[in-house]
Amino acid sequence: MAGTKTKSAPAASGAIRLKTAVPGPKSLALMARRKAAVARGPFHATPVFVKSAHGALLTDVDGNVLIDLAAGIGVVNTGHTAEAVVAAVRAQAGELIHASFNTTPYESYVTLAERLNAAAPGTHAKKTFLANSGAEAVENAVKIARAHTGRAGILCFEHAFHGRTYMAMTLTGKAKPYKYGFAPLCSDVYRAPYPYAPGGLDAQAAFKKFLDVAAVQTMPSQLAAVIIEPVVGEGGFLPADKAFLALLRQWCTANGVVLIADEIQCGFGRTGTLFASEQLGLVPDLLTTAKGLGGGMPVSAVVGRAEMMDAPVEGGIGGTFGGNPVAVAAALAVLDLFADPKFLKRVKELGASMRRSLEGFKKASAKVGDVRGLGPMLAFELVKAGGEPDADAAKALAKYACEHGVVVLTAGSYGNCLRLLPPLVITDAELAEALGVLEAGLKELR
Ligand SMILES: Cc1ncc(COP(=O)(O)O)c(C=O)c1O
Repeated sequence: MAGTKTKSAPAASGAIRLKTAVPGPKSLALMARRKAAVARGPFHATPVFVKSAHGALLTDVDGNVLIDLAAGIGVVNTGHTAEAVVAAVRAQAGELIHASFNTTPYESYVTLAERLNAAAPGTHAKKTFLANSGAEAVENAVKIARAHTGRAGILCFEHAFHGRTYMAMTLTGKAKPYKYGFAPLCSDVYRAPYPYAPGGLDAQAAFKKFLDVAAVQTMPSQLAAVIIEPVVGEGGFLPADKAFLALLRQWCTANGVVLIADEIQCGFGRTGTLFASEQLGLVPDLLTTAKGLGGGMPVSAVVGRAEMMDAPVEGGIGGTFGGNPVAVAAALAVLDLFADPKFLKRVKELGASMRRSLEGFKKASAKVGDVRGLGPMLAFELVKAGGEPDADAAKALAKYACEHGVVVLTAGSYGNCLRLLPPLVITDAELAEALGVLEAGLKELR
């Protein structure tokens, strides 16, 4: 079984400042309370209880400072407690915390819709619907597609992750833990191979496999939507093949099937552009976004073709909290940060530098397999001598990193990837230090 040879020693240089072993005594005590009081279901990537965070640094309850390569699962792209976001939240909370857009609407919801309509790919007329979580955006995108087409079928892809509500969970590719014990799932869902292969892909061959599902296992006339992550997140940071996406776009248009891009993880600057679709030449009909949109506040959106977005009848979509004023204020502040071209320029540089480092890992260690992703949304596989996925090694490396002051998440259908999702404001020095810990951890892997 994979593991690392050494135990952590408190570090006291650079950004990482460890005062205790990680997890420290206060985290351990809180974990005991958590086990007694909180349901088992929610998983913890680390056993560390966090107290505060700023930029790319987390301070835990024991006073240890850790570098964050997880960003709350790809959420605080603009940094933990980004000043502009915090200021917007504070100001809004004192003025209007909640009203419910379904009861007494407020201007900021409309403004955010206008800004998302302008920002999403494509020059066609768009409308937006706001919700609270990624899964809720996915559910609503499916409802909108079904209302628009009058059809039931939804085609999704292998390795997908779309959330934990019933339809989103059904669309998700991995059975355990996401669907385990929760049957029956939703009907009318079909799954095709994801258009990514290490070292390149024959888009025509991938598209033929897609047609085997879309036109043999079901029929185009029965399909309401195809939903795809332009870059797969939880399933292991697989970027979709651009030529395949072009074929898919044409096919959906020709067959009246709604094309949904799930940009919940890969959107909001994560890949170096506001939306990954921009780099992949994709203009989806509906786009789901969440995570980075709120800069840490819970808000999600479906942005799409105006005529499709208007398909559900009045009252057919909505919710008590969707587009909460405080979360919307945060999202508007996030969009202001992205409006400065320097932000995404820096993100692109970050991506190039991260890729160089990970390619260096691959050269130096036979344990590192495929290095993949788009821009700074990057992951590397841990593999055994024969190239098979090594989930134990990925787990061991993430544990080593945490014990040495770096928070990093695993990913992948086979659990063998380490994915890097730093706040995009991470400094060069912080990144170098965090990658140095991973590099040292790789050397320690047995
Ligand atoms: C691509 C994608 N879609 C949907 C979701 C679900 O989002 P949430 O956890 O906010 O419900 C996620 C979450 O990781 C995701 O990565």
